[in-house]
Amino acid sequence: MNNVMTSTHNGLANLNYNVQAIREDFPIFEQQIYGKPLTFLDSAASAQKPKSVIDAVNSCYSNEYANIHRGGYFLSQTLTAKYEAARETLRAHIKANSPKEVIFVRGATEAINLVAQTWGRKNLGAKDEMILSQLEHHSNIVPWQILRDEKEFTIQVGPIDDKGNFLLDEFEKKLNNKTKLVAITHISNALGTITPIREIIKLAHKHGALVLVDGCQALPHMEIDVVDLDADFYVFSGHKMYGPTGVGVLYAKEKLLNAMPPYQGGGDMIRSVTFEKTTFNDLPHKFEAGTPHIAGGIGLSAAIDYMNDVGFKNIHDHEKELLRYGLEKIQEVDGIELRGRADNIAGILSFTMKSAHPHDIGTILDQDGIAIRTGHHCAQPIMDFLDIPATARASFGLYNTKEDIDRFIDGLHKVNRIFA
Ligand code: ALA
Repeated sequence: MNNVMTSTHNGLANLNYNVQAIREDFPIFEQQIYGKPLTFLDSAASAQKPKSVIDAVNSCYSNEYANIHRGGYFLSQTLTAKYEAARETLRAHIKANSPKEVIFVRGATEAINLVAQTWGRKNLGAKDEMILSQLEHHSNIVPWQILRDEKEFTIQVGPIDDKGNFLLDEFEKKLNNKTKLVAITHISNALGTITPIREIIKLAHKHGALVLVDGCQALPHMEIDVVDLDADFYVFSGHKMYGPTGVGVLYAKEKLLNAMPPYQGGGDMIRSVTFEKTTFNDLPHKFEAGTPHIAGGIGLSAAIDYMNDVGFKNIHDHEKELLRYGLEKIQEVDGIELRGRADNIAGILSFTMKSAHPHDIGTILDQDGIAIRTGHHCAQPIMDFLDIPATARASFGLYNTKEDIDRFIDGLHKVNRIFA
């Protein structure tokens, strides 16, 4: 990694965040888009990858590759140890008690489907209720609906106000002795709302319900301690936290995982198989059927090392300042309506403009090499709630600069000029 901190003359660390050095760690920023610098403001959809992650994946395939957990020979044994070390890095990162509680999956979507089809299938019946929030991404709605249509439990929705604040009091009113599960996002991908997750978990537990937290948008920006939060399930994807696509984590308390039936059957998740009977492997392998995304797990561990090298306090302070600056500048643009206006938001500006549809905003910005996401952000219920078809969304990562925001704001003025 390049030097993130610069030294002052007296040798003390200067807390100036050296974002230019960080950008040099990301090869994608070497290129231009339509002859313009790349202004990447879509990290909430998927973050760019530092060279250390790309190198870790490359080295896995170039120098270290063999299948894992299956071979007695050097390459297989060595890579098995490296993959399990990656799991330990993940465990330490989220401060789980045991690597048995860290299940490698394809991403948060698979993790939620896993919990729905194992814990949910076993524990949710016609008399039961679960609570989602109005802020949920489709991946934390549809898996539950698929199961609900079969098991006939009731899905309640925890409301938000028109700024995007999660309404804790209203949520509490929906909890009762039939509530078995609360499944809720930590940070809304569509509006940026940071939900009061600690209070939500406390209230749910008070009523005997378990809590699944979708941490996809939280992991890239903040340190998570699953034990301190007392989350029962906590899921996230690697690709939003500077790691590879196709890998993510389901954290669950060991006692829950032990009581859950397996998800998929196949190699590695078994202890013994005959045509009459199969016995299952110990945790975490019981939930990891088939050859895993070996390079993905190793790449994800490299992404965590990278973020730790930059430092979460530094990332947090930098992104907070970007958000402050972005919020200030965007209000200067005529006809802007900010849609994510919750009291506590992460580095996401979700907005509409009087002059243009979000898709047109995205197209005009793209011509200047500015990448934002437009649409419903896979969260149609929020759009329905706000009575709009779509928003434009700029989201920040640790490599963004105030110059990125200036170019983005210039682009919005251009939208107004074109559509005036
Ligand atoms: N969930 C991703 C997003 O917010 C894809 O864009």
